[in-house]
Amino acid sequence: MAVVQEKELLCKDFLAKPKKLLIDGKFVDAVSGKTFETINPATEEVLAKVPEGGKEDVDKAVKAARRALDGPWGKMATNERARLIYKLAELIEKHADELAQLETLDNGKPITESRYVDVAQTAETYRYYAGWATKLEGETINANSNFFTYTLREPVGVVGQIIPWNFPMLMQAWKWGPALACGNTVVLKPAEQTPLTALRIGELAMEAGFPDGVVNIITGFGPDSAGEAISNHMDIDKVAFTGEEATGRIIVKASAGNLKRVSLELGGKAPNIVFADADIDAAVKGAITGIFFNQGQVCCAGSRLFLEKSIHDEFMSKLTDRIAKMRQGHGLDEGTQIGPQVSKEQQQRILSYIDIAKKEGASLACGGAAPSEHKKGYFVQPTVFTGVNNDMRIAKEEVFGPVLAVIPFTGMDEVAEAANKTTFGLSGAVWTRDVKKAHKFAARIKAGTIWVNCYNVFDPAVPFGGYKMSGYGRELGKHSIELYSNIKSVWMNLMD
Ligand code: NAI
Ligand code: MG
Repeated sequence: MAVVQEKELLCKDFLAKPKKLLIDGKFVDAVSGKTFETINPATEEVLAKVPEGGKEDVDKAVKAARRALDGPWGKMATNERARLIYKLAELIEKHADELAQLETLDNGKPITESRYVDVAQTAETYRYYAGWATKLEGETINANSNFFTYTLREPVGVVGQIIPWNFPMLMQAWKWGPALACGNTVVLKPAEQTPLTALRIGELAMEAGFPDGVVNIITGFGPDSAGEAISNHMDIDKVAFTGEEATGRIIVKASAGNLKRVSLELGGKAPNIVFADADIDAAVKGAITGIFFNQGQVCCAGSRLFLEKSIHDEFMSKLTDRIAKMRQGHGLDEGTQIGPQVSKEQQQRILSYIDIAKKEGASLACGGAAPSEHKKGYFVQPTVFTGVNNDMRIAKEEVFGPVLAVIPFTGMDEVAEAANKTTFGLSGAVWTRDVKKAHKFAARIKAGTIWVNCYNVFDPAVPFGGYKMSGYGRELGKHSIELYSNIKSVWMNLMD
């Protein structure tokens, strides 16, 4: 088996040394001295202990971030800022294999995905936003000839960023890239399930030469812990959050104290719609990428597959044939296509949704259990239910696992209505050879991203975010610059 042996583990030195919070350019223990364990989901073994940061640590980090903002970082020329972000991207590429292994060990995802998606996109995201640092502009406005009127684009200030465990390193990049390009300082809380790559990237940021206090990392939990302390902090100017819808609501409420700005990227229940005129083989591959990529732990996962009735049976047989050939195993094994879920909690949650689907009358086409060949690890077989209707819980709630709900349809209007009958609106996809139909559907689906004849395609230049309860604000592209900058209008009196 090609599982990397311990001696080949490029991240073994990092794993072995004590983990610390990053506050004011220094690696320090939590004030409380408390730590918690992070687990390898493929083996259930403890990977490392990390500090359990709390309110006092967040307070220290916010003070350091404020000092950096008012000090060296705030005064730095934008081309210097750009250079530091570029340097971070270079260091990430230099350590790409090590970071990929660390991400796979902490999260479980297949190493090929960690290396060619997570690490590659992380570096690209920093590089993209490094370019923005020198391209921020205000405007002059011809409002009234008695005044010279212009706008300045300024950083929002100290920003708190709370991220999930499904793409730890990449979510950090989506948050840090635009925040740093705009000249903000950051207090980041990684997810408690996957704190390791954030800390390693913190080291690389220090190596790149960011001034003390510009980036701070507090590992810890959400409620009554570092997450809560960030979301209700009176000296944090903005919070960016990615995670569960219910947590999003808590963050919004907590923001009321100082009315800090909030951006949210929450869940999804994306419709993936295949018309009979589509390239069926391409759509089958797209359906697989749509639901099984990252073990289904993707906010934009194509978890509702709408199949036009005339192709339903052909599609299902091709789909289940391909699924039967998928290799599930340890993420470090180069041949693995589907790894374990991130945690026991997530595995159990997914298995309970499988039970609910059975009870509600959906038919199991494949999978449906934890695979018996893996004695350890939080695995769930790739699972498909047919005969699902849009009112079943499995079609309404975010399962966040490798569980696909197949819903047959007959007409355009029927499927458009059903696709939009969800409280979420993050993404959707349409498979057809008919250009008109594709454009019409792209307009009709109420979601922030629509893929036509593709799935899960991303680029740092293309905005991403939700309609409805999938959140608000757009990350990536120039739209993220809006999230992390303030506009100031200046009026100069020209009257004699
Ligand atoms: P979560 O939303 O609780 O956790 C995400 C982040 O928020 C973590 O860093 C966590 O520590 C923090 N957090 C939790 N409670 C908080 C609070 N009260 N105040 C401040 N920060 C808080 O998500 P969880 O519990 O890990 O996963 C549960 C479900 O949420 C998943 O099954 C999935 O359906 C959904 N989810 C969606 C994600 C997405 O990308 N949209 C990512 C992760 C989870
Ligand atoms: Mg939670």
